[in-house]
Amino acid sequence: MNDPPLSALIAALPKAELHLHIEGSLEPELMFALAQRNNVAIPYANVEEVRAAYHFSRLQDFLDIYYAGANVLRTQQDFHDLAAAYFDRAAADNIVHAEIFFDPQTHTDRGIAFDVVMRGLLSGMAEAREKHGISAGLILCFLRHLSEEAALETLAQAEPWADHLMGVGLDSSEVGHPPAKFTRVFARAAQLGLRRVAHAGEEGPPAYVHEALDLLHVDRLDHGNRAMEDPALVARLASSGMALTVCPLSNLKLCVVEDMARHPIPAMLSAGLVATVNSDDPAYFGGYVNDNFHALDKAGILTRDGLIQLVRNSFIGSFLSDEEKSHHLKEIDKIIDDD
Ligand code: HPA
Ligand code: ZN
Repeated sequence: MNDPPLSALIAALPKAELHLHIEGSLEPELMFALAQRNNVAIPYANVEEVRAAYHFSRLQDFLDIYYAGANVLRTQQDFHDLAAAYFDRAAADNIVHAEIFFDPQTHTDRGIAFDVVMRGLLSGMAEAREKHGISAGLILCFLRHLSEEAALETLAQAEPWADHLMGVGLDSSEVGHPPAKFTRVFARAAQLGLRRVAHAGEEGPPAYVHEALDLLHVDRLDHGNRAMEDPALVARLASSGMALTVCPLSNLKLCVVEDMARHPIPAMLSAGLVATVNSDDPAYFGGYVNDNFHALDKAGILTRDGLIQLVRNSFIGSFLSDEEKSHHLKEIDKIIDDD
């Protein structure tokens, strides 16, 4: 156990969140409210039943429930409310910057217009800036279990919105859908001036991480846990300063790690990786960013120096400008000096 506990410092430090699926922040209470508002049937009688269904033994178990939950999202107001609820919760954790994922295909495939999703999320982001002073960017994720053609179509729909997008990402069922499948999609995104990230090495092998680097030319890696199996890859990630958006509670819930005490975060920091701590799908995995830090602390694997490095990394690994990064890093220094 750490002594003294790090709770106060976890709360006090300003942080960036770099791995958050906005659809994964849909809390059961909002799911019910939207189901009622939109007259959509959901297969649960109450919020307790929803939460009781959240037991997963692998990524696909979660994805099936996550896509079903997103079915209550119908209108621009729904997407606004979803984003606004996330930012209210993030503000309570002292998140001052967030780069959030969204899955347009989950919605357009149900007949919801791409523009409806964009307008709702952007208005939620504008409210967050006004109400909480939180800066935010959007990362459009392609669903990797769908085809290259579908991803190219989605990117074409996104083109008129390119100025409102920070980048593109790749999520959903990893094994069997390697990054190579999306080489041309990511090349096109690069031509549009978009940054590139990809989930790799969550359940997929280290080879998928190599592909994300070599074929998709990612600027940041989402999860990356299984890169730790390949020492040469770890050395490459460290020497290139590649940021990893790691999600401890997600890893535990999806059985990517067996036990929080054996989470690879300490090994990642020791190897010099730019690891960050994020919530992934907080409504489904039982916690927001501070809960993730508390879980590492409770498992006895978070030192004060580790915490500070992880929080600094959240800005270093972000897509903010150098000026903005140095502003946030100075704010961290002020908190540490007073601690
Ligand atoms: N992995 C892959 N796809 C996802 C995830 C994840 O952790 N969360 C939402 N979509
Ligand atoms: Zn994710």
